[in-house]
Amino acid sequence: MRDTETVQQAPSDLTAPLAVPDHLTGFGNHHVTEAVAGALPVGRNSPQRAPLGLYAEQISGTAFTRPRAANARTWVYRIRPSAAHPPFHRIDNGLLRTAPFTEVEPDPNRLRWNAVPIPAEPTDFLDGLFTVAGNGDVMTHAGIGVHWYRANRSMADRYVVDADGELLIVPQQGRILLHTELGRLAVAPTEIAVVPRGIRFRVELLDDAARGYVCENYGAPFTLPERGPIGANGLANERDFRYPVAAYEDREEPVQVVQKFGGNLWAADYDHSPLDVVAWHGSYAPYAYDLTRFMAIGTISFDHPDPSIFTVLTSPTDTPGLANADFVIFPPRWLVGEDTFRPPWFHRNIMSEFMGLVHGVYDAKAEGFVPGGASLHNTFAAHGPDAETYARASTAELVPQKVGDTLAFMFESRWTIVPTAAALAAPHRQHGYDAVWAGLRREFRTP
Ligand SMILES: [Fe+2]
Repeated sequence: MRDTETVQQAPSDLTAPLAVPDHLTGFGNHHVTEAVAGALPVGRNSPQRAPLGLYAEQISGTAFTRPRAANARTWVYRIRPSAAHPPFHRIDNGLLRTAPFTEVEPDPNRLRWNAVPIPAEPTDFLDGLFTVAGNGDVMTHAGIGVHWYRANRSMADRYVVDADGELLIVPQQGRILLHTELGRLAVAPTEIAVVPRGIRFRVELLDDAARGYVCENYGAPFTLPERGPIGANGLANERDFRYPVAAYEDREEPVQVVQKFGGNLWAADYDHSPLDVVAWHGSYAPYAYDLTRFMAIGTISFDHPDPSIFTVLTSPTDTPGLANADFVIFPPRWLVGEDTFRPPWFHRNIMSEFMGLVHGVYDAKAEGFVPGGASLHNTFAAHGPDAETYARASTAELVPQKVGDTLAFMFESRWTIVPTAAALAAPHRQHGYDAVWAGLRREFRTP
């Protein structure tokens, strides 16, 4: 039975203004949407003839037999079935790499990079992908790939689909408009988008250039973390996740569809847009989230919780509490802990931590960790505040303090994150990162 309250109309005219795009809300909900009234079948998924002559097709994001709570699939009603396509042929991978990461020996050193430059030559989102590091094995659906993206032009006649993993996109500079099979999502810095594995899309730039980070998640799809004793509200709230309404391209002209499969790029020349879904219903769909809506929780007494309290999304494994990947943010917040060293403490961690900065200054690093840059603190790498931050925070007057106008994030994984050869050799890699802790002198004073 169609839920008429949640069916929304979307303009099929791609030139329509998107200042206030329509969207559906609710993390993991079963959404129902049609771009043309009457395009969705009523009461069944696969009628003998679907409405308006459309083809019915199911996209299964989980095995058919997964439990209901984890099951994700979407029925689409499209102008042509996806099966109507020519063969794919191999194309160059550029700077894109995939697990297992074996180009270099795993490096125990703490690594840091400046902002990845945006090339001068014409570069779209796909061209500009630059793999920093990763772990696991793409063929067994374990681990992550960590990439930068940088672009100075839109994908106009080219589409991409990643069969290897879902893509968590973290814009750092420039707004982008994702045209996906299931509709359009506009995302800006301080927002994120997630495109599920196997969903075709192209990236349009809404500003002159775009740059950001991508976590390619080979593992279980990202979901919201359990709240435990926090209760029923807080952290990333379900209602704030937005999903696209159906929007299609009725386009009959040569385009290229690039598929990432088994770690390599393959291309096929289509004679039509693969974004030809006129209506869909289901729970397997791209979504976006405004990170400024994250309800941060911290201490109101002393010490501060482990940074897992800042988890926005988690890709779980079969072992409870041991994530394939967590997406964690360090948003603006108040620090009020009494008799507390308030920045992140010194630590060593069995989990591996890749960090990036969208804007502002991270409260453990006074300098050197720059917007668009990154750091990698691998399994048991010792890290924490730099010398300047330690000196300031260990002597500061502990009045209520706002950490404002900043957004750092972390891709944290249970498996050691191995850099690529290109990332280690990149001119924007910082050398001498260890020096930020060199100023921490012996402080032991015997009583
Ligand atoms: Fe850390």
